Amino acid sequence: MSIHIEAKEGEIAEVILLPGDPLRAQFIAENFLEGAVQYTGVRNILGFTGLYKGKKVSVQGTGMGIPSISIYVNELFRDYGVKKAIRIGTAGSIQEDIKLRDLVIAMSACTDSAVNSVRFGGRSYAPTASFGLLKTAYETALARGWQPKVGPVVSTDMFYADDPDEWKLWTRFGCLALEMESAELYTLAAKYGREALCLLTISDSLITHELTTAEERRKSFTRMIEVALDTAVSVQEPAELCSKTV
Ligand code: HPA
Repeated sequence: MSIHIEAKEGEIAEVILLPGDPLRAQFIAENFLEGAVQYTGVRNILGFTGLYKGKKVSVQGTGMGIPSISIYVNELFRDYGVKKAIRIGTAGSIQEDIKLRDLVIAMSACTDSAVNSVRFGGRSYAPTASFGLLKTAYETALARGWQPKVGPVVSTDMFYADDPDEWKLWTRFGCLALEMESAELYTLAAKYGREALCLLTISDSLITHELTTAEERRKSFTRMIEVALDTAVSVQEPAELCSKTV
């Protein structure tokens, strides 16, 4: 039991999927996991553990933005021993060649958040994905006929920026898309010595102002869930191999 998660010890798997929306966590539990059991419901941030292809996987909402994901991921890493965390979310494209419904894998995450400049006393830290998770997810997506775009994203604190052209600076420096959580997830994974990855489907474009429909979001999100779950189970160490290690 931690402050914001009411799970008991052992109820959360070592590998977890992290959608922002708690109802997406419930959707994944109900449609992809066998025997899923809800382990938390504090503030309606739902979390479930079940089996996927015979392996234990958890899925939990994080809410939106860096402060919210920071609370849940600190507790998952520190209090529940989660080893690998895969965020699945949506993002807004800031490059011409990143189209609606594309899958973006965040290799690194820039941010306009003050959190890391406070944490590092004004120094600049480079939040970076786990190479092992990234490679596995990339290959898993390719095998499913999906060509992911891999590169830096931007974790912004302001969905509604005061300067409507602010994102263009990030475009000039090669960032692919805007979202709101990856920089903190990657930083916390480094702090706790764990692994993290962010998979994102493009839900809107800041360039063309196009938006995906709810149905398109559901379909592309479903494909991303499959990539995330296949990645989650293929990076798990088999229990019997671990126990035989001398
Ligand atoms: N900005 C920030 N976060 C987002 C966006 C966006 O345009 N789209 C999806 N998440």
